[in-house]
Amino acid sequence: MGLLDNIKGALFDLDGVLVDTAKYHYLAWKRLAEQWGFEFTEADNERLKGVSRMRSLEIIIEIGGLTLSEEEKLRKAEEKNEWYLQYIHQMDHSELLPGAKEYLLQLKAKGVRIALGSASKNAVFILEKVGIADLFDAIIDGTKVSKAKPDPEVFEAGCRELGLKPSECVVFEDAEAGIKAAIAAGVYVIGIGNPAILSEANRVVGGLNDLVS
Ligand code: BG6
Ligand code: MG
Repeated sequence: MGLLDNIKGALFDLDGVLVDTAKYHYLAWKRLAEQWGFEFTEADNERLKGVSRMRSLEIIIEIGGLTLSEEEKLRKAEEKNEWYLQYIHQMDHSELLPGAKEYLLQLKAKGVRIALGSASKNAVFILEKVGIADLFDAIIDGTKVSKAKPDPEVFEAGCRELGLKPSECVVFEDAEAGIKAAIAAGVYVIGIGNPAILSEANRVVGGLNDLVS
């Protein structure tokens, strides 16, 4: 029996693990960078994955070599979110990543408790849009935590809300910051995506569909 056959809890990141929203975050940040007149590449975007909205904005500002007041930062983060919301309002179940729903259902059938561990403040809205909100026993998102990944807070809170120890759980993550957060929380972590980028994970798979049996 593999490790995944013995787990009691599974904690899922949202963007890039369950739903294909990473592309929308990228497009919205890219639009902001273009407005300022500099290029924002997909390689730059890796640094934004998993981190909070405000921290993402700070990284973009750093890439562009800009200086903004706190008030301007808030306005720009809001502007980015409005563009992002326009994209996610169009979402439906077709934007669930391959195998995501099937794997959640398979874990549930085995009695595994399921939590969301996301930095996003739009998480509940997205889960409802794609029709999987009712599969979660706990939802820890950007409205509930104050410290962004790579801080372990989101996953520590997830284990706590599931009533389980970190050693009884597994985290599924597509971002370097999220993998660091899981390791710091003491949870076994499976990277979803490119092994070259996610080298710190305990194991890497291409997508949740690789885990569906
Ligand atoms: C994470 C994404 O899940 O949520 C980040 O990987 C994003 O790219 C962060 O910045 C915050 O999301 P939101 O929806 O609150 O702007
Ligand atoms: Mg992610």
